[in-house]
Amino acid sequence: PALTFSVLTLFPELLRPFASEALLGKAQARGLVDVRLHDLRDWAANKHHKVDDTPYGGGAGMVIRVDVVARALDALRAERPIDEVVMLTPAGETFRQATAEAWAAQGGHWVILCGRYEGFDARVERLVTREVSIGDFVMMGGEAAAACIMEAVSRLVPGVLGAEASHQDDSFSSGLLDYPEYTRPPEWAGEGVPAVLQSGNHAAIAAWRRAQALGKTYQRRPDLLPTAGLTPLDSAELLR
Ligand code: ADE
Repeated sequence: PALTFSVLTLFPELLRPFASEALLGKAQARGLVDVRLHDLRDWAANKHHKVDDTPYGGGAGMVIRVDVVARALDALRAERPIDEVVMLTPAGETFRQATAEAWAAQGGHWVILCGRYEGFDARVERLVTREVSIGDFVMMGGEAAAACIMEAVSRLVPGVLGAEASHQDDSFSSGLLDYPEYTRPPEWAGEGVPAVLQSGNHAAIAAWRRAQALGKTYQRRPDLLPTAGLTPLDSAELLR
């Protein structure tokens, strides 16, 4: 496959459905993306399968041992050369649509390290190529972040989305929020469907959609406008 994710986690079952269901499952079945889930406990040295220990200096919580992570990475490397090792942490660089685009274009074998408890021993930093956060909030572990990242990257791998679901006009890919979509019924709870969408005039529909995307972005996310690559026509529309 173009892209392989090997996820190292204490809770592989949390991620199982993301690997096997819906589009990501289909992409896997078609050999486009490979998601491998690995239990970090498999590389614990002691008979209790302990992967964590108490922090030096005291304090609450447990810290994941660096030697366990190193053994796990060595084992994965023996299976297939590793291109990137991503540590999920709120202290990492923020993951964005541009990040997803770059990773999908790069492809290869990506190991994703999911933390739990108070995190990893600081020396794990020497084993990783990137530290990534999915946003300025703290979760109980990295598994949900791994699911977000695999979803965002995989759908950009050529062939994963059908032609009908092209990502060219996605929010953020275009730099703007999406325009509104409608389907049947044509009238619901007193609200109809904009007449232009039923006009069959493709140029008018395209212009209406662009104007809607611009208006919605202006109202909800004005911070996106400076980097959205607006045309003079777009700017005229915004000033209207
Ligand atoms: N683990 C806990 N919170 C996280 C976040 N915001 N991003 C990535 N990994 C995390």
